[in-house]
Amino acid sequence: MTQRSDSRHLSSLTLIRPDDWHVHVRDGEALKTVVPHTAAQFGRAVIMPNVRPPVTTAAQAVAYRERILAAAPPPLPGHTPFKPLMTLYLTDNLPPDEIKRAKDAGVVAAKLYPAGATTNSDAGVTDLRKTYTTLETMQREGLLLLVHGEVTSSDIDLFDREAVFIDTELIPLRRDFPELKIVFEHITTREAAQYVQSAGNYTAATITAHHLLYNRNAMFSGGMRPHYYCLPVLKREIHRQALVDAATSGSPHFFLGTDSAPHAAHLKEHASGCAGCYTAHAAIELYAQAFDAAGAMDKLEGFASWYGPDFYQLPRNESTITLRREAWTPPESYAFGEAVLKPLAGGQALQWRMV
Ligand code: DOR
Ligand code: ZN
Repeated sequence: MTQRSDSRHLSSLTLIRPDDWHVHVRDGEALKTVVPHTAAQFGRAVIMPNVRPPVTTAAQAVAYRERILAAAPPPLPGHTPFKPLMTLYLTDNLPPDEIKRAKDAGVVAAKLYPAGATTNSDAGVTDLRKTYTTLETMQREGLLLLVHGEVTSSDIDLFDREAVFIDTELIPLRRDFPELKIVFEHITTREAAQYVQSAGNYTAATITAHHLLYNRNAMFSGGMRPHYYCLPVLKREIHRQALVDAATSGSPHFFLGTDSAPHAAHLKEHASGCAGCYTAHAAIELYAQAFDAAGAMDKLEGFASWYGPDFYQLPRNESTITLRREAWTPPESYAFGEAVLKPLAGGQALQWRMV
């Protein structure tokens, strides 16, 4: 681990307004709860397309963007309006023409879900080769490929699925499309961090706050804790430490993506509980907690506010936010349509708060 200067004397930190490069906001009534949380903190957010039905056309992406914007509060003085950055859901037969229409509509990327990998991924890709003509068009048009990097085969241990994906899917994909920009989303292992660091300028990764803060023990401490269950699942402590090292290294290959993924509490506290941690209510505070614990508050701005837009070739935000060292306790639940949403670390004290 790198030796850090002590940041514990810091009482506040002002940084360029961050962006969330990976978030699930769902649709319908849920938008009213979750979009204001994300818009309060982030200038932009890359919106995942795994709603029902999945977002597979430019027209659907544009309509979804309008519904998200309708749920966003007006910007605070001095800030530009919140900007959702839309994505398409890659399927076995997403036509190359749709990529061109999507680009014209401002869509920034397509998301690869291996079929069956996670929430609403049944329409996902069954064989990457089926997508190759579409990927060629994306490479040419400059759309990014965002990857849920897990194999789905039931004979591969759940905890090994990310590492196996690198060898069997990602390395061949990288070789076949050398200039396609790929974001390996929500990486969870030392293997993924090492791969991304060595894979050249067209490859980057997002890291969630929960994978920086917790290892897999969190899911089982004193009983099953479904609110810590997400995919890819939390891993061993050595992996958490490797992710903290990557996020706080100052390497532009790693940037912020919360993977905040709201589910109604009764569907997580269930015999077959849904995967996803909700962190949008206190996203930047949770990251600050992780960076502070590593003595690396000076690296937070690069990770949260610079390297994401640089990789997407978008301008960095111009306004700033300020975090203050101040203990506060987020609520244990929020209304979520007719249901209840239980945020990660709800009811637990956090050390940093956005002013
Ligand atoms: O935990 C997760 N939840 N991982 C994913 O990949 C999807 C997400 C969701 O949409 O709920
Ligand atoms: Zn996700």
